[in-house]
Amino acid sequence: MSRVETLIAQMTLAEKLGQLTMAAASHTVTGPVVADEPLAAIEAGTIGNVLNLIGADHVRELQRLAVQRSRLGIPVLFALDITHGYRTLFPVSLAAAGMFDPPAWEHMMRAIAQEAAAEGIAMTFAPMLDVARDPRWGRTVEGPGEDPWVAARMAQAMVRGLQSANLAEANALAAVAKHYCAYGAVTGGREYASVDLSERTVLEVHEPPFAAAVAAGAAAIMPAFTDLAGIPMTANARLLERGLRARLGFTGVLVSDYNAIGELMAHGIAGDLAEAAALALDAGVDIDMMSNAYRRGLPVALERGRVRTAQIDAAVRRVLTLKERLGLFDDPFRRGTTPEADSAIAARRVLARSCATRALIMLTNEHATLPLCERVRRLAVIGPLADVSAEMRGPWWAAAAPEGHVTVLEGLRAAFPEAQILHAEGVAIEGGDSSAIGAAIRGCAGAEAIVLCIGEAATMSGEAASRAQLDLPGRQRELAEAVLEHARAHAVPVVAVLFSGRPLAVPWLTERADAVLAAWFLGSEAGNAIADVLSGKASPSGRTPVTWPRALGQIPIFYAQRPSGRPSDASNRYSSGYRDETSAPLFPFGHGLTYGRFRYASVRAAPLEVSERDTIEVRVELTNEGTRAAEETVFLFAHDKLASVARPQLELKAVAKVALAAGASATVSLGLPARDLRFLGADLIPRFEPGEIELLVGPCAERARLIGCVVSLRA
Ligand code: GLC
Repeated sequence: MSRVETLIAQMTLAEKLGQLTMAAASHTVTGPVVADEPLAAIEAGTIGNVLNLIGADHVRELQRLAVQRSRLGIPVLFALDITHGYRTLFPVSLAAAGMFDPPAWEHMMRAIAQEAAAEGIAMTFAPMLDVARDPRWGRTVEGPGEDPWVAARMAQAMVRGLQSANLAEANALAAVAKHYCAYGAVTGGREYASVDLSERTVLEVHEPPFAAAVAAGAAAIMPAFTDLAGIPMTANARLLERGLRARLGFTGVLVSDYNAIGELMAHGIAGDLAEAAALALDAGVDIDMMSNAYRRGLPVALERGRVRTAQIDAAVRRVLTLKERLGLFDDPFRRGTTPEADSAIAARRVLARSCATRALIMLTNEHATLPLCERVRRLAVIGPLADVSAEMRGPWWAAAAPEGHVTVLEGLRAAFPEAQILHAEGVAIEGGDSSAIGAAIRGCAGAEAIVLCIGEAATMSGEAASRAQLDLPGRQRELAEAVLEHARAHAVPVVAVLFSGRPLAVPWLTERADAVLAAWFLGSEAGNAIADVLSGKASPSGRTPVTWPRALGQIPIFYAQRPSGRPSDASNRYSSGYRDETSAPLFPFGHGLTYGRFRYASVRAAPLEVSERDTIEVRVELTNEGTRAAEETVFLFAHDKLASVARPQLELKAVAKVALAAGASATVSLGLPARDLRFLGADLIPRFEPGEIELLVGPCAERARLIGCVVSLRA
């Protein structure tokens, strides 16, 4: 009999329910913390999993209690939200998505996993795969952006990076893909609100990243807090048991979100904790995070005959199997025993800087304002985000201390050691005091350029951080207007560096500043990455993985829209649009400038007659007509103009990253498996439908900037 089956046969009900419970330590807070410290329960073997414990010594202490003092000595699984770094922080996921580079995503997560595993962590609640098309939702920052193709590739790359080739390795983390499903479509962008979508949108947009995570071998999946069309995901047997497990073949562990099982009562579908526990168990949820519903509710549900012991055993089996795959039984102290070498820590900072530089987006660069002249003598660095290390972290900073993350001011001082660099905050990130704006403007006197560092605080996005406005908080706009006015009067360029966890609708800024960078939250090397681009040491190559709205009222706004029967036409009143605003975004999906200037020509595809088994090769001639080397991101979109259901006007199908020296040319090849051109028919069954498909290539999801060709699909 296997180790797992032997254990199950020996376990009491309390010990079984302990393995189905995850309790929070209080080293970091990610939800309401209850008094129960897990210490005593671990020694009693009635808590089997712990989150939010930080530090190798603490992990070893609890693990020793479990392994040496509890009756069966089952090791504890230690988990934490490590979404973009453990102590060394990389760009937040939304920023990383803008690299459009699966190998870079995998490399980043591999480095992150090594740091966390070295301190005893064995599971992370990542990757977060919620496609988001409403930037009012705070968790947009944690995810892959608006596009399911990007989200699916991030899922695959991040799961591979976190889990390595073998989960039992000392530096491998179990990945928990979250939050299944469609959490990013909350009503009104309002956190935790109900989600009500068509089945088509769920299956075409929100589920594909999780299918990719399952195919990549994700060890676990976390259902969303939210209800989907009235069924809370934590109790959604149709999508969990019959969807993820039966239809997608997921065999791993389902771990609830924080207190989500207990919250089935607030959803109004469970009358008490026992019924809540029974609903979640019926749906296939294995681990109860922080609601105690399983430990306290399932014994009652058993007595009521509402659940069966076999269901509990099936959940215990999946949890113990995961612990076995992690190597916890073979060596409970394999993670957290060997400190990392200094060289590994240093290499991680170098990688963090490279990722941050490549995630940074240059939204505008009028009159070639950037890069700044290397001989600049006097710079003014203004704004509340110019020199605050803690804000560079973004939300979900795991074990990263507030200090130690390079600020813009620090990065610029290192990049321009000869320059006199003045700094003034001007205003706080939030709050109504504008009394220091005058001093800040006076400090700009004599500056050859002004770097304006503004935007959101790190905690204005992430969980429980939806915003009803998409502008600069506090009195920052007043500061920006004063800087822009001073700059205009003195013919001084203004470079705005925008920090945010979502695209902000700030046309008044992007149309008046000389250059604008979207820095999102770039992590521990933020200031060096920004200075690398401002100084010209690196050419910006980041692209936006979300469409930038020009106005709040345009939301939801995303590129993959269906055409409507009256497609948007500015010359026709009776066409899709607004009376008081354009339908066009401030910046399209995929937008981002480089220090090169790329020309696309001669797009062609082979074969032109395509069957489902074919792989189409699309080629385009790319030339860097600029004066500086740069890396271009080449997008391949498909458009199915005539089909049995209305199809989006553009759908991303492939991406290529191409670095070219000034004046250089290259033939860029993008592969497209014809199977990827299937879509869900009217019956929601995937179909490969004969007909013509436009294949369009270019720098972003703006049709006027794409060049295309046509292939014909045949049965
Ligand atoms: C939080 C989040 C989830 C996180 C979990 C554990 O509420 O919704 O993303 O992984 O609780 O911290």
